Amino acid sequence: KEEVKILAIESSCDETAAAVVVNGREVRSNVISSQIALHTLYGGVVPEIASRKHIEKINQVITQALEDADTTLEEIDAIGVTYGPGLVGALLVGVAEAKAIAYAAKKPLVGVHHIEGHICANYIENKELEPPFLCLVASGGHTHLVKVADYGKYEIIGRTRDDAAGEAFDKVARAIGLGYPGGPKIEKKAKEGNDKAIVFPKAKVAENPYDFSFSGLKSAVLNYINGCKMKRQEINEADIAASFQKAVIDVLVEHAVHAAKEYRIDKFAIAGGVASNQTLREAMEKACKERGIQFYHPSPIFCTDNAAMIGSAAYYEYLQGRRDGWDLNAVPNLKL
Ligand code: KG4
Ligand code: ZN
Repeated sequence: KEEVKILAIESSCDETAAAVVVNGREVRSNVISSQIALHTLYGGVVPEIASRKHIEKINQVITQALEDADTTLEEIDAIGVTYGPGLVGALLVGVAEAKAIAYAAKKPLVGVHHIEGHICANYIENKELEPPFLCLVASGGHTHLVKVADYGKYEIIGRTRDDAAGEAFDKVARAIGLGYPGGPKIEKKAKEGNDKAIVFPKAKVAENPYDFSFSGLKSAVLNYINGCKMKRQEINEADIAASFQKAVIDVLVEHAVHAAKEYRIDKFAIAGGVASNQTLREAMEKACKERGIQFYHPSPIFCTDNAAMIGSAAYYEYLQGRRDGWDLNAVPNLKL
């Protein structure tokens, strides 16, 4: 069959999303119902509220995705769904929904790893991108440096030992009173600040040069703020945001170019919520260009959680024959 049309569902955290994707790269619809406003009240994602909101929204989001794609369930070839990692109660909503639809419509079911989805977001707008390549996945829950050896074949070469990059953005944003989610707020604030005003530490992990550690940086920012308060010094949020952001970006870029050199791979991609950061994209672009590395990134809408990326990943899994049974379950700590 020339056209494989996948209905994809994503509900691993605070976005209820559905999309229709053809042949892994052509997005026919991409519907996202964000719960961010709801969780902002609490300063972060509240798992039970997320689950309840997913159950309320999911049918509406799927109906909209089919409608936007001008298609029907009958025309769909397979149902792709994120089954981990993520919040278990949130994942369960998408998994149960996908199983019900697949069962009723007699369609194959394809479980997708959320991180694989983030990586595959790069295929959507970069039609020429093919493995092998390296990918930095930086989101609220993960910071992984991944070697994409082939479609569906991943090797994690580095990971965070403590906080994820996005998590550090969220925690620092909270500390300087910018609110949730921290990434976009820090990025905006940083534009008014001096990124050389404060020198924050850039942690190196001795055992593995590709691993990350962001908790020390986060503590350094908190200590700096407390120091200012004790000395009754003015707290310059813009300078803190800019200097913190620079410290994170420097580490991400250093790891990227180091890995590309050592692994002799001249294609580097970024993915995940943090990849929507414009300053990071510019720094990566520049560093890659200087070294003859081709740099790829998805548009911001495909960086943060969405179902189009799950549809892309599901397509390549489907091609390789992956079919899940009615026993597919949510796996909160699923390994790549
Ligand atoms: O990929 P994502 O939507 O969800 C997870 O799978 O975690 O990533 C969300 C994370 C949050 O921590 C958020 O603060 C961060 O991505 N983020 C950003 C930006 N936009 C979102 N971090 C830095 N700069 C941004 N512009
Ligand atoms: Zn994500």
